[in-house]
Amino acid sequence: MKTKCCFRVGFHEGSPATLLGRQVGAALLFSLLTASCYAEDVTKLPEIRCNPANVLGSESCAKCHEKELSQWKLTPHHGTFELLHRKPEAKAIAKKLGLKSVKRNDLCVSCHYTRQLVDERVRIVSGISCESCHGAAKNWLASHNDYGGPAATKEDESAEHRQQRIEASVAAGMNNPSNLYLVARQCLACHTTPEEQLVNVGGHPAGSSEFELVSWSQGIVRHNFLRTNGTSNGTLSLEQLRVMYAVGVMADLEASFRALAKATTRATFGIASAQRAARMKHKLYAIDQLVDDPNIKRALAVALAEPLKLNRGEALSAAADRIGQAAYRFAAEADGESLVPLDPLLPSPEKYRMGNETSKQ
Ligand code: HEC
Ligand code: HEC
Ligand code: HEC
Ligand code: HEC
Repeated sequence: MKTKCCFRVGFHEGSPATLLGRQVGAALLFSLLTASCYAEDVTKLPEIRCNPANVLGSESCAKCHEKELSQWKLTPHHGTFELLHRKPEAKAIAKKLGLKSVKRNDLCVSCHYTRQLVDERVRIVSGISCESCHGAAKNWLASHNDYGGPAATKEDESAEHRQQRIEASVAAGMNNPSNLYLVARQCLACHTTPEEQLVNVGGHPAGSSEFELVSWSQGIVRHNFLRTNGTSNGTLSLEQLRVMYAVGVMADLEASFRALAKATTRATFGIASAQRAARMKHKLYAIDQLVDDPNIKRALAVALAEPLKLNRGEALSAAADRIGQAAYRFAAEADGESLVPLDPLLPSPEKYRMGNETSKQ
């Protein structure tokens, strides 16, 4: 089978027409240069949770991404750092789990905070940060913006170099949004709360049941300054939103399968995870009814074959891997222009989350 290149070259800039032209050109060029794709296997993608030893902290992005940083500071992801440990609900959850502090345990910290190795000690340095979504930066920081040496500029960069640069960044641990799945799976690894005891014993919410990638990423969380050369926080094109919508459903389906795979008892966690997986299966089915796409079909076939039951850990995890693989390829290969029939499924901008819906203070 012919291997296609994994990334949509030129995702961030240009009108749809030039973008498409460049994509096709680059894809052709690239397939002549190399027939391999470095990450057909999702288990080879960067790790979901940041290794504190590789975390550099959000201030290390400030020099070049000051506007993204200001936008992030408006989000609950940032605010949770100052707020969470003071909340009675948080203390109550921790207490039920026998944890003395919300900030001093691996569990709460893995989703609510960012840890960094400072002077040989692991410290909590912020809430959910740039690196929680884009990956711990130590090994990719220097190369992700290297156009080919100190003198090279974005304008001189060849399509081939760009492709290699993006691939190298991912191989070094970056969840580069050039493939949206890489970031989407980060969202869902937290927003499905795949921890049985946390939910059943601690009484923590069983994931964000209303999560939907377009509406949850395009409100307060949105930070698109590269696309506009830093002039404003740009919005995504309709073509990009269609791809994002389907990527979000597939990443949610995958994460719900992973959560259900951990469920051992018929209680809140197992029930909520099974219901969520069933809901995502229906959403993917609806997408498949509207568009004809091989990766959607692949993910749906895997999902339809699995009974959504307790104590099926191995089978459900293996299915989740295959769904993730299809989602990753879909994000790389899908052409938003051919996904017009999905428009009625896209949430309207009034539904975009502004961060004050559930985070009452
Ligand atoms: C020295 C400047 C510099 C620093 C520091 C820096 N970046 Fe970047 N970053 C860039 C440039 C330039 C680009 C645009 C690259 C391109 O043209 O594809 C970029 C692109 C990105 C992208 C988008 C990639 C894509 O193709 O969509 C992300 C995400 C990103 N940076 C995250 C970060 C994070 C997180 C940090 C801090 C840990 C960081 N950057 C630090 C300069 C920098
Ligand atoms: C697997 C990831 C994950 C873990 C682990 C986790 N949380 Fe959460 N938590 C979330 C997410 C996601 C939300 C947002 C849910 C929503 O409202 O959509 C949340 C919401 C909350 C809220 C309600 C939001 C608010 O600000 O009022 C509290 C309180 C909370 N978590 C406390 C804890 C405590 C205490 C721990 C550790 C015992 C913990 N969480 C562990 C992911 C996690
Ligand atoms: C909650 C997850 C999340 C956090 C936190 C986050 N990002 Fe992003 N980032 C994304 C997603 C998703 C995209 C691509 C989707 C989009 O463009 O709306 C993206 C896109 C980007 C881009 C490319 C888009 C553009 O045109 O500018 C840059 C650069 C970037 N992020 C840098 C950062 C930096 C720096 C931080 C921290 C200050 C940060 N991100 C925090 C999820 C996140
Ligand atoms: C490391 C875990 C983590 C990741 C990754 C993550 N989130 Fe969150 N997110 C949380 C937690 C925890 C909260 C609740 C914070 C609070 O209120 O205390 C939250 C809150 C939110 C909220 C505000 C709550 C609401 O009800 O509107 C939005 C929107 C959101 N996340 C979107 C996203 C999107 C989109 C992504 C991926 C691009 C993402 N998150 C990635 C953990 C995460």
